[in-house]
Amino acid sequence: MSDKIAKLSIGNDSWELPIQTGVIGPDVIDIASMYKQTGKFTYDPGFTSTASCESKITYIDGDLGTLLYRGYPIEQLAEHGDFLETCYLLLYGELPTPAQKTDFDLRVTRHTMLHEQMQTLYRGFRRDAHPMAIMVGVVGALSAFYHDSTDISDPHQRMIASLRMVAKMPTIAAMAYKYSIGQPFVYPKNEMDYASNFLNMCFAVPAEQYKVNPVLARAMDRIFTLHADHEQNASTSTVRLAGSSGANPFACIAAGIACLWGPAHGGANEAALNMLHEIGSVENIPEYIRRAKDKNDPFRLMGFGHRVYKNYDPRARIMQKTCHEVLNELGIKDDPALEVAMELEKIALNDEYFVSKKLYPNIDFYSGITLRALGFPAEMFTVLFSVARTVGWIAQWKEMVEDPSQKIGRPRQLYTGSDKRDYVTIGQR
Ligand code: SDX
Repeated sequence: MSDKIAKLSIGNDSWELPIQTGVIGPDVIDIASMYKQTGKFTYDPGFTSTASCESKITYIDGDLGTLLYRGYPIEQLAEHGDFLETCYLLLYGELPTPAQKTDFDLRVTRHTMLHEQMQTLYRGFRRDAHPMAIMVGVVGALSAFYHDSTDISDPHQRMIASLRMVAKMPTIAAMAYKYSIGQPFVYPKNEMDYASNFLNMCFAVPAEQYKVNPVLARAMDRIFTLHADHEQNASTSTVRLAGSSGANPFACIAAGIACLWGPAHGGANEAALNMLHEIGSVENIPEYIRRAKDKNDPFRLMGFGHRVYKNYDPRARIMQKTCHEVLNELGIKDDPALEVAMELEKIALNDEYFVSKKLYPNIDFYSGITLRALGFPAEMFTVLFSVARTVGWIAQWKEMVEDPSQKIGRPRQLYTGSDKRDYVTIGQR
């Protein structure tokens, strides 16, 4: 709390509202008592100027283009650590010691298998169901199978639920992929690391030996780290709001997956690759740039722009580097989608419209090209995003549940509908 005060005056009345100061980042004006004092609500559709909570997990500076997980820059974590180390950091707040890391990896590994009976849930879907639809359904159903970790008042059950979510999401996602291509499910292997295990569950077949490429597994692991958490984005806010009612963690994560699916959010990686394919060649770029700037044309450059980043998304830089690593490892020299992406980025970053609106590539711009090179179809891209973001969702959910000041989220509104009126019987209408 700081001793700074904001003064609000309306007509002859004036009120004082406390200002709170964080460790870094903008101060906040605490308006919790404003309605009681003034009889008025604040109005902020899309929450462009609203802090929904206090958090110690992730910090973004949109102007500087920085992203910190518990204070550590994403560039350093992506370079030097692995995804499970990032999971430990997000969940516990500190980097693990070697012993803590070994123990955590083992605890996660021991929860990677899915209740065998859950396989029948997959068979209820059409084979051509979008894998995100399967993810929402299967993750939501976890609470029907794991009753012993749904009591959110029990710290032990909260941690077990967290470990189960981090551990089982790759298995659930890989099964969704296998189901969509008509191949048998592949069980997790405890001797494999997190990313290698995931690639094996996705691409191994009973008919022959599958060898995980360590360069591709490292790239997959880094992609998970880049997507792990991102402050109070739409899907994280969804998870927090669902959790504020006391809903069980599996149901809350399913709500987050549903929200992430949207093309303005996590669905942008699939949309961005589809856009690059639609553009097709460098020659067509000017027409699409024109359309993106045309207010009467709903077309937007997918993978460009961000609510918070008004500078380059630091994750996009690392993703671009990873993209080149993967394509080089696979010997892919002239990928048309990459050629269009590189040229599109160059043109857009020199175009007054994008410069003035501070629209830069975000994490989704290069991820699609990389994931497709790794062997995933576009429909799986947001699924992979949800696998990575689960640790961020569950860490934010835990922080909210453990916050003593937490209460059910219940926004108000500006009502512009009909004033009170009497019912007219149908014969009188
Ligand atoms: C993610 O929040 C997070 O942290 C999300 C995420 C995470 O890790 O959780 O980072 C993941 O969702 C990344 C964003 C992925 N989405 C896309 O790439 C879809 C394309 N981007 C846009 O839809 C848009 O940029 C948003 C949704 C990302 C942000 O939208 P805002 O903050 O609401 O900004 P806006 O729509 O008000 O745009 C500001 C201006 C507008 O022009 P004006 O009305 O002011 O004249 O910029 C224009 C927009 O028309 N604009 C674009 C554009 N994005 C914004 N114009 C063309 N192409 C674009 N991509």
